[in-house]
Amino acid sequence: MKGIILHGGHGTRLRPLTHTGPKQLLPIANKPMSEYCVEAIKDCGITEIAIIIGGIGSKKVKEYYGDGSKFNLKISYIEQDEPKGIAHAINLCKDFVENEKFLVFLGDNIIQKSISDISKKFENDDDDALVLLCEVPNPERFGIADVKDNKIIKIMEKPKNPPTNLAVTGIYFLTTKIFDIFTRLKPSWRNELEITDALQMMLEENCIVNFEMITDYWKDTGTPNDILHANGEVLKNMQPYFHGVKNENVELVGNTMIGMNSKIHSTSKILGPCIIGKNCVIGKNCVLGPNVSLGDNSKLTNCSIQNSIIMENCTIDSNIKIKDSILASNSSITLDNNNNEKVLLLGEGTKISL
Ligand code: DAU
Repeated sequence: MKGIILHGGHGTRLRPLTHTGPKQLLPIANKPMSEYCVEAIKDCGITEIAIIIGGIGSKKVKEYYGDGSKFNLKISYIEQDEPKGIAHAINLCKDFVENEKFLVFLGDNIIQKSISDISKKFENDDDDALVLLCEVPNPERFGIADVKDNKIIKIMEKPKNPPTNLAVTGIYFLTTKIFDIFTRLKPSWRNELEITDALQMMLEENCIVNFEMITDYWKDTGTPNDILHANGEVLKNMQPYFHGVKNENVELVGNTMIGMNSKIHSTSKILGPCIIGKNCVIGKNCVLGPNVSLGDNSKLTNCSIQNSIIMENCTIDSNIKIKDSILASNSSITLDNNNNEKVLLLGEGTKISL
């Protein structure tokens, strides 16, 4: 079986974070979100992955994943000139797939539990396609499956009146039959070639479109709040470690992951779940956590941070309370005597002096 990751699109809903790079490289627990897809695909025993790139930051994706050797995988890249739809992106992979079955992951979908058993089942069964469904509270935001007697009877994209709350997640097990369907697929109302329309055509043509339920965690990280939620969830399930510079008096509470060479001042407190990257300096009077990820080489003093992602090389030297925020790399916040609570979404390289 082969693997495909969609790493294109414009990431407009996450601006300004996506002005300088693709959303799928935004970190969750200090790791690009698409790396969780790479790991999930690898866990299924797949060794060859094609990554669809396009638009902003394609170069960054290639730089990060390279030829895949650092992940013990073979990774190649396929350019998509414009985000013309998920089906359009998959269709570009026809030559890469050859005659094999394949697993497609949207690079902004995060799961926590292994899908290798489902993958094995798909490899051995005669299904033409298998989708993973997950119950959601807001079905109008997703592709939706109508299921009767344990069979999918209809698949539709973001319906106004969803017949069920079963979202079609962005994880698709497919066979080469889909490429024949693509030749007859027409663009949707949003002018995209929709994978949901292609799956619906498969159903209409009596192909076997099976499903499995995700009963564990699944998130499409479409908004900053989705990203923060996924961050908290991943942190919660991590094994704690301390690779920093020991200071016996530092208060570490709960699940904390402290990176190489990071120093924490004895007047500061880390409340898990919380991850601190390498070479960070947590100076005087900081309270970090819960649900905080701090990237490598960041320096903090006098601040309190909760439920937030602060990326690498950031500096905060300020009497400030930050919550529910995302600060992209190289951002800095200095001086604030108001001690106000702030919610921030800062693009790369932002400097704020308060
Ligand atoms: O996450 C699950 C949902 O993903 C499904 O329930 C929907 O059926 C499916 O259409 C999709 O909906 P979204 O509106 O969330 O898709 P979005 O445009 O955000 O694109 C999903 C990912 O695929 C994202 O990482 C960008 C990438 N992409 C998207 C398009 C349209 C590409 O690489 N190329 C593209 O042309």
